[in-house]
Amino acid sequence: MGKSDLLLELYSNLSTTGAVTFSSKALVNKMLSHADLSGAKLIVELGGGDGSITQGIVNRISPGTKLLVFEINKSFCVSMEKQFPQENVQIINDSAENIVNYLQGEKADYVLSSLPFSFIAPEIKDMILSQTKISLSEKGRFIQICYSYLLKNLFKKHFSEVSTSFTLKNIPPAFVMVCK
Ligand SMILES: C[S@@+](CC[C@H](N)C(=O)[O-])C[C@H]1O[C@@H](n2cnc3c(N)ncnc32)[C@H](O)[C@@H]1O
Repeated sequence: MGKSDLLLELYSNLSTTGAVTFSSKALVNKMLSHADLSGAKLIVELGGGDGSITQGIVNRISPGTKLLVFEINKSFCVSMEKQFPQENVQIINDSAENIVNYLQGEKADYVLSSLPFSFIAPEIKDMILSQTKISLSEKGRFIQICYSYLLKNLFKKHFSEVSTSFTLKNIPPAFVMVCK
């Protein structure tokens, strides 16, 4: 899928994608500046989309690091499978609330998400966040990109500390929330 087909898929599914464009490189860099991926064993990404964050992660990890990418849109999954043929990258066409089913008892060092929480039903949001919390190792971090500061209240229900940064270098400008 080319960039224009990916954007068309994004616009055609606004109720589940929740975005008018994909994350900018500057936003991806900002998000990943909060994570030391070099020593990570297992990383989970939620909402792979066009693979913009996935690419940033892949650029920073070694072949020994496993990356699981959850994405509910089949077309995005097919496109990412072509873009990321690496053995340590697994594209999973399933919803984020099922993370634990794929971890085989392992814990993740990071869960990195661009899920559109403002568009997800309350009971599913809570399910995703509680599954995320139990998927993380003791020192693990959940890092979320979002467009609304109000989402901090949702994350605080599940995590004891939530720190926030902001960038104008994205359309729309975005927050990065780091939760532990
Ligand atoms: C805002 S887009 C982000 C895409 C890309 N990662 C980026 O940063 O530009 C959100 C993505 O999450 C996916 N998504 C929405 N709900 C999901 C769910 N419950 N589980 C997995 N993926 C989901 C959408 O299909 C969409 O691709």
